[in-house]
Amino acid sequence: MSDVDQAFGNRGNRDASVVNPRGRGTIDGSRRSGAIGPGKDGDPFLIGDGMSGGYGRGPDILHDCTIAVEKGQIAVIVGPNGAGKSTAMKAIFGMLDLRQGSVRLNGHDITALNPQDRVKAGMGFVPQVNNIFPSMTVEENLEMGAFIRDDDISGTLEQVYDLFPAVAEKRKQAAGELSGGQRQQVAVGRALMTRPQVLMLDEPTAGVSPIVMDELFDRIIAIARGGLPVLMVEQNAQQAMNIADKAYVLVQGANAHTGTGKELMANDEVRRTFLGG
Ligand SMILES: Nc1ncnc2c1ncn2[C@@H]1O[C@H](COP(=O)(O)OP(=O)(O)OP(=O)(O)O)[C@@H](O)[C@H]1O
Ligand SMILES: [Mg+2]
Repeated sequence: MSDVDQAFGNRGNRDASVVNPRGRGTIDGSRRSGAIGPGKDGDPFLIGDGMSGGYGRGPDILHDCTIAVEKGQIAVIVGPNGAGKSTAMKAIFGMLDLRQGSVRLNGHDITALNPQDRVKAGMGFVPQVNNIFPSMTVEENLEMGAFIRDDDISGTLEQVYDLFPAVAEKRKQAAGELSGGQRQQVAVGRALMTRPQVLMLDEPTAGVSPIVMDELFDRIIAIARGGLPVLMVEQNAQQAMNIADKAYVLVQGANAHTGTGKELMANDEVRRTFLGG
């Protein structure tokens, strides 16, 4: 599989839609974009609205699922394994065709755009797995991230290095040699290289130590407070609620609970079921 496919997280799909031109599922990266439409009054900055759909010709994974993030805020998606959190992120990023629902960004309906064009429209996406090119250096990874730009990227590169000093020290090293936490920083940095208007992170703290997790959370908070809205999936539900302006609990592809992080932490059922008491 090509590096570009990997960059879009389009790897190892179990469905056959790539060889089935009539399938409605995961795309192969060559899908042409359709037209951009108008948003709706009062829209959040980014919203996946009433999304239903699945992979290939398989059953729906998402059932009328709505996820949104406002400017300057952090929205978090939590939920059990297999709940459809990654599928919801991929749907917002245009990696599966929705049977119902729409995705709107910054006042525009972008449902018909393919992932590449969503990046151009301002989305930065860090997939859950295979989110770096291990054999390339850190710097090459970041340069790859800037693939849609034809202007000078050196300023953005320095901003990313300022944000992640540990990564800056290793800029000439193969990214695959870095620790798990540093690789996640490279992945986030790569997404920042397009200067996105919204950052989407699928489990950025997966597999890292608690200390590294806290550091990563601090960086993500800094990014959001710097004005870049962040939509993230997070398996550490407790920490996620602490930093979330808005939190979504997904169960079986549907919205089970939605509220501010505080509201959900105060909700008995959410606490019992998802926060371990
Ligand atoms: N490429 C795919 N093709 C077909 N089915 C898939 C594909 N990816 C995921 N699924 C199915 O979709 C459902 C939701 O999976 P998804 O990866 O979105 O869950 P998740 O909430 O992100 O789980 P986790 O916490 O383990 O990351 C599962 O039943 C999964 O088996
Ligand atoms: Mg997932």
